[in-house]
Amino acid sequence: MRVIACLAASLDGKISPAHVERYTRITTDVDIQHLCRLRDTVQAVVYGGNTFRAYPKKHRGLDLDRTLHHVILTRGQNIVQDLPIDAPLFQENQIPIWIFIPQLPSIDTQAAYPDHVQWRAIDSFEIPGEPAKVILNTLAQAGLESIMVEGGGEVVTQFLKAQAIQELYLTLSPLFLGNQAAGLTGNGNFPFAFPQIPQAKLLSVQQLENELYLHYQLAYETSWPIVESEAEDGFSN
Ligand SMILES: NC(=O)c1ccc[n+]([C@@H]2O[C@H](COP(=O)([O-])OP(=O)(O)OC[C@H]3O[C@@H](n4cnc5c(N)ncnc54)[C@H](OP(=O)(O)O)[C@@H]3O)[C@@H](O)[C@H]2O)c1
Repeated sequence: MRVIACLAASLDGKISPAHVERYTRITTDVDIQHLCRLRDTVQAVVYGGNTFRAYPKKHRGLDLDRTLHHVILTRGQNIVQDLPIDAPLFQENQIPIWIFIPQLPSIDTQAAYPDHVQWRAIDSFEIPGEPAKVILNTLAQAGLESIMVEGGGEVVTQFLKAQAIQELYLTLSPLFLGNQAAGLTGNGNFPFAFPQIPQAKLLSVQQLENELYLHYQLAYETSWPIVESEAEDGFSN
């Protein structure tokens, strides 16, 4: 399974301004084109409940004839409120939608959603990384071969914990959004411990206007540049 991620972040690693409920762009039209182009290279997009609520619509590529599977990860504590049936995404015909959730809702609740919504329970939901592994196995069994993790930070972290993201496309936006804003790796509930700290190898970088378009290959054992040092100046061993 090819697994890529595409996000935009501010200079302080945030993906959305604080205190906004609706999707709020932090990049230019050029970046949106870049995101849509990447959507055209995968069969499914994966995102979390917060991202769904910020943008409860179809995720489109440039090729409007392609059908993308939409995969949503939710704890589903109040499903009809968290994923409202009248959301524009559910009104679209023919979009395969997968909802991954710790416990399946009642048959009646499931029946209230359109037929193209498929529900899947994840027993190991609260084990870091497990939701991502279950999603990947399920989609692979359904014959899918490529997915893109679109965010937000909580879901990116789950896929990093599963050591699943192979490539990251990151657009660096020349903004500072402050520490209350949603971060690229969520709210810090799932820290990475040395040496299992994801490390990125820069494959390419392009400057377009005032943004940087970074393309990374990810690895999941970090040796550099994090070193323990007893030297007082912290610079030499
Ligand atoms: N700049 C970008 O590229 C970009 C991309 C995507 C999103 N965004 C923005 O990022 C913000 C959302 O990011 P976010 O990090 O707050 O949320 P998120 O990753 O979109 O969603 C988090 C939600 O995922 C669900 N979830 C399922 N399993 C989980 C698990 N094991 N651990 C944690 N969460 C799990 C829960 O949904 P429930 O609450 O439904 O239970 C949780 O609240 C929005 O403002 C969105 O617009 C920006």
